[in-house]
Amino acid sequence: MAADTIKRVSPFLDSGPHTTPGTLAIVALSRDNLIPVYLQDSKGAHDGYAEGVVVNTRYGSFPHSTLLNVPWGSQIRASNVDTGSRGRKRKRPEGDAGDAAGEVNREDAAANAVKQAATASSGFVHILPPTPELWTASLPHRTQVVYTPDYSYVLHRIRARPGTRIIEAGSGSGSFTHASARAVYNGYPRDGSERKGKVFSFEYHETRFEKMKNEILGHGLDGLVQLTHRDVYKDGFLVDGESPEAESIFLDLPAPWQALPHLSRSRPQTAEFAADGEKPWVSPLNPKKSAYICTFSPCIEQVTKTVSAMRRLGWVNIEMVEIANRRLQVFRDRVGLHIPTERGANLTPANVGEAVARLAEIEERFKEHSKASRSGGNSSTPTAAMDVDTNGDVMADANGAPYKIWKEGRLITKGEPEVKTHTSYLVFAVLPREWSAEEEEAAFKRWPCGGEEKVIGSLNKQARREEKIRIHGGKNKDTKKKVEKDVEAESKEAAAEA
Ligand SMILES: C[S@@+](CC[C@H](N)C(=O)[O-])C[C@H]1O[C@@H](n2cnc3c(N)ncnc32)[C@H](O)[C@@H]1O
Repeated sequence: MAADTIKRVSPFLDSGPHTTPGTLAIVALSRDNLIPVYLQDSKGAHDGYAEGVVVNTRYGSFPHSTLLNVPWGSQIRASNVDTGSRGRKRKRPEGDAGDAAGEVNREDAAANAVKQAATASSGFVHILPPTPELWTASLPHRTQVVYTPDYSYVLHRIRARPGTRIIEAGSGSGSFTHASARAVYNGYPRDGSERKGKVFSFEYHETRFEKMKNEILGHGLDGLVQLTHRDVYKDGFLVDGESPEAESIFLDLPAPWQALPHLSRSRPQTAEFAADGEKPWVSPLNPKKSAYICTFSPCIEQVTKTVSAMRRLGWVNIEMVEIANRRLQVFRDRVGLHIPTERGANLTPANVGEAVARLAEIEERFKEHSKASRSGGNSSTPTAAMDVDTNGDVMADANGAPYKIWKEGRLITKGEPEVKTHTSYLVFAVLPREWSAEEEEAAFKRWPCGGEEKVIGSLNKQARREEKIRIHGGKNKDTKKKVEKDVEAESKEAAAEA
């Protein structure tokens, strides 16, 4: 295959060893502060920055040139950027009818070559490869989104695995879409006819649909995610009139019960569907497999209506689950007066000995201070030996012996006092696979039952031998020999008994 015809694999599926121009990266300022950035290889100054495209954060400025071609996970130091002409007003030529107030002169700067970034004295970020989890935490919100604790459980329950075809509605901000695309990925289809794992996502809000389309394209997920602009309550889940043949479904819609009739195996017996009774019914579900569904609704009234519709439409094993996600904080409980002022540390005496030693030290200082005052000298309090390492983690105790502060104290795990994370109620159900009279007959032929002459356990020795070899010893030589030996021993035993 020619190099230019090889499909670029999404960085969500394989990010490669290091950052490259044109791909999405996540700039991590802290655990909860992540910025998605499309890395660019600047050819000249950009937006008034001589270093080219720059990401500005509260921890400093980061020209893309410093973020490019580095191993994923690298720590990147901030740069002192040259804002050059940024903010300078352009003097317009006489008679120019443009904005009289002038505008930021960017083009002049762009003409210059990109300037090498100079490292700043402080500030850093980490550069991380995109994953569905990081994308969920950093994506531009257009709607409420499904978060990682919920979607990991949902994907497990609806049996999403490599090769699965999932129906999703609505697409919203694409949080669930990215996670499900990774879950079902088993390669890009070579052409439209090759059957691979795929997400069929439906969204009726035009602007959201357009934004999502661009994102899917930009993230290299086209071919794995098929987006359709559609009101699924009205028009269901077929794509160009064809069935997606899905076996997993996730509905994050205000009224899932209105979409459920479209997910039937045969035409629902309601007035709404009776109207187009002439047309043959095409189900969006895979006829050869049971369908696993999850609906995601914030209110219990929605759950009631959904469950009721599911029962009427033949769904079974209906169950509701709520994910109560609780963050656990793990830290060391450090108590003692020897600890420098630090967040989280408890600066009280750890025991009576430490309290008495501290009182004695204060008493001593007081005495020295009084003595100095009486003699008219300087009251220079003796400075305690510096015990804080500038790196903040290696300390010296009273005897000068080093110790690591992060190893101090008892290890404690604390949960949040209150669980505040109700996102939605998850309703799960299963719609059994289709089963026709022909399939029943074929199954009966393959596994005949009802006409047996003997039970395996009561077969004669020769038949049992053949049966054992057929089951265990057919391919593997060693097993076959062992089975033959066993059967021979059994036959001898039987002969002796006779
Ligand atoms: C809560 S958002 C989905 C968020 C998404 N699950 C995510 O993780 O980012 C619900 C979406 O359903 C869409 N929607 C609502 N009714 C719809 C309908 N009848 N057909 C298609 N989409 C619909 C809305 O426009 C909205 O974008």
